[in-house]
Amino acid sequence: MKIALGSDHGGYQLKEEIKRWLTEKGEYEVRDFGTYSEGSCDYPDVALPVARAVAQGECSLGILVCGTGIGVSIVANKVPGIRAALCHDTFSARASREHNDANILTLGERVIGRGLALEIVEAWLNGSFAGGRHQRRVDKINALDHKASPEC
Ligand code: RB5
Repeated sequence: MKIALGSDHGGYQLKEEIKRWLTEKGEYEVRDFGTYSEGSCDYPDVALPVARAVAQGECSLGILVCGTGIGVSIVANKVPGIRAALCHDTFSARASREHNDANILTLGERVIGRGLALEIVEAWLNGSFAGGRHQRRVDKINALDHKASPEC
């Protein structure tokens, strides 16, 4: 499975940890959209290409990290077809896949520690969409995409 990964400087260290963890698992192909150092950068510049890669099917899922997870989440959710979920616990991470069919996970490096973050990533990747009544709700979200800004 191909995973799009990205962060700003505030999420750089955790993004690198996640990249190592995914690579060691051996079952994921990682596409790293940057940032590539701790130098200051703007989170929209990374979150948008990651979201587009997922929305266009180039990558199956995405993981975005910034200081809080909030900025990258706001940006990613502007892109039609993206359902980005900011999760700082494993229950929400699993539920975001099962109920919301989330295709991007966002995390805040300044909010949680490395151990919990990796458990959240694992719970999120292991979750799968439950369908049924949740499909009807996701269909209603998808219908809103047609009203979103077309240039995204
Ligand atoms: C960068 O200082 C910080 O604002 C950013 O990483 C993120 O937390 C924004 O939501």
